[in-house]
Amino acid sequence: MGDMLTTRRKEVLAAVVVGPMLAAVFLIAFGVSAQSQGVQQQEVPNNPAVPAPPVQPIPYSHKTHLANGLECQTCHTNPEPGALMTFPAASTCMACHNTVAKDKPAVVKLAEFAQSQQPISWVRVYSVLPGVQWSHRKHIQAGMKCETCHGPVAEMDAMAMVTSVTAMGTCINCHQMKNAKTVCNTCHLWP
Ligand code: HEC
Ligand code: HEC
Ligand code: HEC
Ligand code: HEC
Ligand code: HEC
Repeated sequence: MGDMLTTRRKEVLAAVVVGPMLAAVFLIAFGVSAQSQGVQQQEVPNNPAVPAPPVQPIPYSHKTHLANGLECQTCHTNPEPGALMTFPAASTCMACHNTVAKDKPAVVKLAEFAQSQQPISWVRVYSVLPGVQWSHRKHIQAGMKCETCHGPVAEMDAMAMVTSVTAMGTCINCHQMKNAKTVCNTCHLWP
């Protein structure tokens, strides 16, 4: 874990230095023509190569559940201080699965989690490096939709990181487009 973080830090660091140079080249090459044609830049670009969805302890499908009319807030609440959207307790799932599909192997496993009262060990899909200042609430209150940052969730059987929203370049780019703050200490504790 420590090693992984160090590698990620180095990659990000390299991106911080190389990024602006590439951005300058990109802007010269495409920026001007895009602007003159009035092409709108996507607020949160998709990942060109989507990493494989992680294997989850229970194969949960957003597509199946959202097609049944469930809303995000049923399962993802945004408690104080508002940074996290959180994952549902197994008991939230069992409200239906005490009866729905209760003999299916995945649901039997779900029932075991519920009985043990342990939180289900979901593997994270989107995450930023520890120490980065982040708040879901600030963004949701400013009118942003889940789908802007997490893609077409209602069409996904297995959740994967379809957008680049966790990359620093994406954060800063949208902040620039929407006239939000871009000084380093908006998102970092150091000045
Ligand atoms: C019935 C419960 C339920 C509903 C409704 C639901 N989700 Fe989820 N969501 C989950 C569970 C369980 C996970 C963890 C497993 C996974 O990643 O698929 C999850 C994971 C996610 C993740 C990945 C988080 C991460 O970084 O690991 C995102 C993003 C997400 N949901 C967005 C949404 C959005 C947007 C909606 C509404 C359009 C929604 N969810 C509705 C249960 C739900
Ligand atoms: C509002 C009711 C409801 C809630 C809440 C709910 N589900 Fe479901 N779930 C369903 C329905 C309906 C199906 C489709 C059943 C079918 O096709 O036979 C389903 C299907 C499933 C399946 C597939 C079962 C199979 O193998 O066919 C799994 C796994 C599952 N849900 C897990 C979860 C988990 C995990 C949660 C909590 C994060 C959850 N469900 C919350 C209603 C619900
Ligand atoms: C402005 C972009 C943005 C919007 C809008 C947004 N998210 Fe996120 N989401 C993120 C980022 C960035 C992370 C990773 C944050 C971290 O590492 O703590 C994340 C992480 C998550 C997670 C996993 C960790 C957690 O507990 O926060 C869930 C679940 C999630 N988002 C669901 C949602 C739902 C549901 C909505 C809509 C109500 C939503 N998100 C709106 C950017 C966004
Ligand atoms: C889709 C556009 C968008 C994306 C992507 C986005 N932001 Fe923001 N962010 C905003 C806007 C707009 C505001 C200003 C909200 C307001 O004025 O209340 C904001 C506000 C914030 C704030 C609060 C600043 C303050 O003054 O309190 C923080 C912290 C923040 N963003 C961090 C991030 C991080 C970290 C990321 C990337 C992981 C990110 N944002 C991605 C649009 C975005
Ligand atoms: C709008 C939010 C935002 C702003 C403003 C911002 N960053 Fe970041 N920064 C991030 C995010 C998010 C990450 C983590 C990326 C990841 O998880 O891969 C990060 C990571 C980093 C890292 C590597 C990891 C670490 O924490 O050591 C460095 C170095 C860095 N940023 C420097 C800067 C500098 C210098 C500025 C000011 C010019 C700046 N950042 C402004 C969001 C921001």
